[in-house]
Amino acid sequence: MEPVIGLAVGLGTGPGLVGAPNRRGGRVPGAQNTGVEGGVGLTALMVAAARAIETHRPDALAGDAYAEHFVRAAGASAAWPVRPAEVPDGDANPLWGRLGRYFGLRTRVLDDFLVRSAHAGARQVVLLGAGLDARAFRLDWPPGRVIYEIDRDGVLAFKHHVLDGLAAVPTATRRPIAVDLRDDWIRSLVSTGFDPTVPTAWLAEGLLLYLPPDAERRLIDTVDRLSADGSTLAFEVKLGPESPEVRASPVYVAARQQIGVDLLALFDGEPRPDSVGDLRGRGWSTAIHTPFDFTRHHGRGPRPEPNDALASNRWVFANKPGTHI
Ligand SMILES: C[S@@+](CC[C@H](N)C(=O)[O-])C[C@H]1O[C@@H](n2cnc3c(N)ncnc32)[C@H](O)[C@@H]1O
Repeated sequence: MEPVIGLAVGLGTGPGLVGAPNRRGGRVPGAQNTGVEGGVGLTALMVAAARAIETHRPDALAGDAYAEHFVRAAGASAAWPVRPAEVPDGDANPLWGRLGRYFGLRTRVLDDFLVRSAHAGARQVVLLGAGLDARAFRLDWPPGRVIYEIDRDGVLAFKHHVLDGLAAVPTATRRPIAVDLRDDWIRSLVSTGFDPTVPTAWLAEGLLLYLPPDAERRLIDTVDRLSADGSTLAFEVKLGPESPEVRASPVYVAARQQIGVDLLALFDGEPRPDSVGDLRGRGWSTAIHTPFDFTRHHGRGPRPEPNDALASNRWVFANKPGTHI
């Protein structure tokens, strides 16, 4: 495994890398503090569990053989389901059924976006808030692509512990970068070899909801400044504050009660910036989709329901002129 740029301490030492016990009683580096055992890091495990379950569905939209290994390796998630048969109530379960299907659909749509971008000329891919995303290992990249994975040090340390144990081999050049996206991250990215003169595919999947508005504005500014013509960006946003009825919806309640992930408390509560308008003002073209657009396209995935926690989710696809994706 390549070293984590910006990771100040070696595996197994120092704060953030102490580790939590896993089911086998071992200590898992990076599981605590800035890792996956609590706070926003736990959401990376939640999405990994959803991907694991999706992988084993007979009608899977996406396959991720690494996902269940992440879930099993962390103490917080070791007992979570990783297969449809392990989900209490099956598809009727609001967390692992409907929200899980949402993550499966999102994975597939953004897999397709990244691979399409790479074939259309993106030479490098930047996964912002990469979490336990294994795209650098499981997607079929054209030759010569470089994948940058940005997340906090504890999350990446945990990820590497698991991937090293599996002797996982990336399908592209992979460069992990341990940095907090609320800080200045340009230097960290550029110093690892990122080339702003060639087209890039950027992805912020399940990230912006957790960032303060200023960090989101800086992220969009940075992406624009570092993007050569022909670059692409996909990200997920929520349209705005949700009503009390939506906040009480089964998805949020189930995440809180079943796995202790209080999404509403983790989402940044400040008014959101207009990132789509910002990009358009900088000359990017944008397309905004609901998840349900892709449910229709693929013939499976979550469908609208009353007081829906997914109703305000939007997936934005942006192109900097010069691309024809
Ligand atoms: C919901 S998970 C999504 C992970 C991945 N993109 C996926 O879809 O599987 C959110 C991720 O964003 C990361 N994240 C949240 N705030 C961050 C920050 N300020 N700096 C770096 N990463 C952050 C978390 O550590 C976590 O891995």
